[in-house]
Amino acid sequence: MKFDGKIGIVTGAGSGIGRATALGFAARGGTVVAADINAENAARVAETIAAHGGKALAMTVDVTHAADIDRMIAETKSQFGRIDFLHNNAFGMPASASTSNEAAGRLADLEDGVWSYMIEVGLTAVWRAMKRALPIMRAQGSGAIVNTASISGMRADYGIAAYNAAKAGVINLTRVGAIEYARDGVRVNCVCPGAIHTPLLQPALEMPGFAERFHEAIPMGRLGKPEEIANVVLFLASDLASFVTGAAIVADGGQTAKTGSPSFMPE
Ligand SMILES: NC(=O)c1ccc[n+]([C@@H]2O[C@H](COP(=O)([O-])OP(=O)(O)OC[C@H]3O[C@@H](n4cnc5c(N)ncnc54)[C@H](O)[C@@H]3O)[C@@H](O)[C@H]2O)c1
Repeated sequence: MKFDGKIGIVTGAGSGIGRATALGFAARGGTVVAADINAENAARVAETIAAHGGKALAMTVDVTHAADIDRMIAETKSQFGRIDFLHNNAFGMPASASTSNEAAGRLADLEDGVWSYMIEVGLTAVWRAMKRALPIMRAQGSGAIVNTASISGMRADYGIAAYNAAKAGVINLTRVGAIEYARDGVRVNCVCPGAIHTPLLQPALEMPGFAERFHEAIPMGRLGKPEEIANVVLFLASDLASFVTGAAIVADGGQTAKTGSPSFMPE
């Protein structure tokens, strides 16, 4: 995988999966716009890249603000002349919930504000960035968009309805982007991570017994690492994936391969 001369934007680049994608893209020769609502973390990632001889620009972006997305796309185009790769990856909880657990609840109990924020940050922001980047990629005749969906967009979880709905939307929006822009030389794919050890999952992991139950649910018996998702994202962004578009690639340690039935082997 080589990205020499390529320009990529990663949202949520300050932490977890986005950070790993940004570092990986830069390590393979690409120039990264590291966008995050957390200015300090975005700057730290850009500094790390520069310290390793790579090229990066940190940008403070709240993906729930249309004007921030406009600025992210416009500044990238004006500074670097093109956009080859867009990784729509940012996700965070509403400010009203200090931890992800506080935003959890059965669907009839979800606050309106939690629902609308999760759809905004998880789905609408992805559409908006695609809307702004696609005309540029179309004019170039090339480009790769990789959205971070989730296995939570393919199956149901208990207590996080808005997240499940947003991620399901990302998977199908990815397919729409893929078929509508395939003849313009633009590929659109998504990755569906299982449980990955990042700050997003940390509050849930701190609930008693949660981590153990996760390890039982995952055939590999462990959580994934951000780099294990970034590797899939970078593959999808690269020319190695030249015939891959509209795909939702699962990387979950085997979790969704299971029916959930108990073992049929006698004890
Ligand atoms: N960790 C998991 O188990 C898991 C599983 C499936 C999918 N995902 C998805 O992976 C993506 C990355 O999550 P992560 O696990 O690396 O979490 P993370 O918390 O480590 O990283 C998310 C980043 O997004 C940033 N962010 C939050 N709100 C933002 C906003 N409004 N505008 C811009 N940036 C914002 C945060 O500051 C943070 O740097 C998310 O889309 C998440 O839904 C994660």
